[in-house]
Amino acid sequence: MSGFTLGEVTLSHGVCLAPMAGVTDGVFRALCRRAGAEYTVSEMISAKALCYEQKGRAGAVARTAPLARLTNAEMPAAVQLFGAEPDLMAEAARRLAAGEYRGAGGVLPVAIDINMGCPVPKVVKNGEGSALLLSPDLAARIVRAVKDAVSLPVTVKMRAGFDEKRGAADFAAQMEDAGADMLVVHGRTRTQFYAPGSDNAVIAAVKARVQIPVVGNGDLFTLDDVIRMRAETGCDGVMIARGALGNPFFFSEIAAFDENRPFTPPTVREKLQTALDHARALTGEKGARVGLSEARKHMLWYCKGLYGAAKAKNRLVRAESVEEIRAVFEMLLEENE
Ligand SMILES: Cc1cc2nc3c(=O)[nH]c(=O)nc-3n(C[C@H](O)[C@H](O)[C@H](O)COP(=O)(O)O)c2cc1C
Repeated sequence: MSGFTLGEVTLSHGVCLAPMAGVTDGVFRALCRRAGAEYTVSEMISAKALCYEQKGRAGAVARTAPLARLTNAEMPAAVQLFGAEPDLMAEAARRLAAGEYRGAGGVLPVAIDINMGCPVPKVVKNGEGSALLLSPDLAARIVRAVKDAVSLPVTVKMRAGFDEKRGAADFAAQMEDAGADMLVVHGRTRTQFYAPGSDNAVIAAVKARVQIPVVGNGDLFTLDDVIRMRAETGCDGVMIARGALGNPFFFSEIAAFDENRPFTPPTVREKLQTALDHARALTGEKGARVGLSEARKHMLWYCKGLYGAAKAKNRLVRAESVEEIRAVFEMLLEENE
């Protein structure tokens, strides 16, 4: 049976929203939390940017602080850091845990997560993200340094390997020894990026090796995928990324299953109403220009699979207001109801 306790927080079924840079901002995290996600994680935050902003780099402040800011609506939430320097990671974690960075909102994270999975060349080239899989000793030093700096649980989000699926269980055990309190395992290598083929066997191998909770991640798009991952790996939790795009209802479906309740999929009208509320929340939070530019991609995800989606897409990518989005949705409703 899934579910686990992490510090002060108990997740009855262990269902988590994954971090996705540029996607899982506070608005989306709150939306998924309301839908049934039990735990959320911030977008990845550069330890360097967070520490240097204290030295007065205005641009870094403007970009970084909003990524770290949490609200009650998305709690329990962790904040995710990336970086390769133990001291900087520790200092950034300390500031996050204490709410001591410029622009902090006062709601503190329940855990600090360390990114050891990001495949992006710009990140890997600096020895950060998934590059840490190649340097387990450095990765362990980072975990230890962060652990010493905060009293919060420290978690690690890792991939199955860098270019081959070997050694994930050893790596995981080393992170546990270094003090990690929970692991998220994405069943792909760095080289696989996001190609289909996440491997549950790697998650199972990690689960069999460590005592701390293991959360499985990778290719969870349907309830059957979730049921299969739980069965094949014995994982304590599941973490959903792309399966939640335009589909926060996925969390409602899993919650209904876990609580033995019937699930009624949203009607097209309900789906588009959620999308519109999402767009409104984004423009309310970030202003019309930034909010709309971020809302557009979400709107396309919500429309995927509907009749007339291609035509709607052309209009949505140019929408200059929430009102225009609403008008496109009216058209979609006529075609789909
Ligand atoms: C657009 C996008 C952004 C992502 N950003 C992050 C991130 O900031 N931190 C992180 O640990 N993983 C990030 N990921 C990886 C996801 O959290 C997840 O591990 C991966 O997508 C596999 O899960 P899925 O198959 O359910 O999508 C990102 C993935 C996507 C698609």
